[in-house]
Amino acid sequence: MTQSLAIVRTPEALTEQVDAWRRAGKRIALVPTMGALHEGHLSLVRLARAHADVVVASVFVNPKQFGPTEDLDRYPRQEARDAELLASVGCDLLFAPTVEAMYPQGFATTVSVTGVSEGLCGGARPGHFDGVATVVAKLLIAARPHVAVFGEKDYQQLQVIRRLNADLNIGVDILGAPIVREADGLAMSSRNAYLSTTDRAIAACLPQVMAAVRDRLEAGAPVADALAAGTAALLAAGVSSVDYLELRDARSLAPLEQLSGAARLLVAARVGATRLIDNMAVTPR
Ligand code: PAF
Repeated sequence: MTQSLAIVRTPEALTEQVDAWRRAGKRIALVPTMGALHEGHLSLVRLARAHADVVVASVFVNPKQFGPTEDLDRYPRQEARDAELLASVGCDLLFAPTVEAMYPQGFATTVSVTGVSEGLCGGARPGHFDGVATVVAKLLIAARPHVAVFGEKDYQQLQVIRRLNADLNIGVDILGAPIVREADGLAMSSRNAYLSTTDRAIAACLPQVMAAVRDRLEAGAPVADALAAGTAALLAAGVSSVDYLELRDARSLAPLEQLSGAARLLVAARVGATRLIDNMAVTPR
């Protein structure tokens, strides 16, 4: 039987525990999440375990990164199940604060990263990356980890976090973990739970179309043509709308008109009412 997981609910209690571990010479890893955990999250915890003596996971549905018309209220919350799953993969501590503990009365600070946060999801979801950067800065400061693990599924988010960690001299080793996919290629996401059976079947076209676009790009097709063909293929497969399908520099996220170095193909599309994102590496031959 899996041991039950210790839970702390305030940043102060978290810092007290990690400071004790630091004094004992332990290397600490942090895995920030919004809960509703799936195999993708568990792969982050396994990677964290391989890089540290103790692993802290956070589960916090951060209101600051949701727009006024987004799914904050219906975002799945299942702490007891999440705690069991985390314990089963060797997590040592769960940080599960309330909104009030993270943002007490009078909270007035926003962390805003320019450049990498612009366009893509930053264009489609105004204020989203300010919310992400603010909560991640708080988590990194409170948990004082040596290493923190984030999924490459949220590729733009990962670049935003790398930037804030470097710019604010936080000094954490930020690790990106590969996307975990379902058998048909759909990237695992807590939001996949919103998909009806019909929409779930349509959603499988995302990785298929992206792989086809990637192959065309790597074979030397003009970027604009490959992206236009990809957008048309997504819509033909039943996707309701495409927020973006873009080729960007893998690190700076600068838009690319031709493939010359390590690049990333990124997509956001709506299937029914559900917004899904995905991305793939594109490498010139
Ligand atoms: O990727 C997520 O789940 C969230 O954006 C994060 C990094 C936990 C911040 O709330």
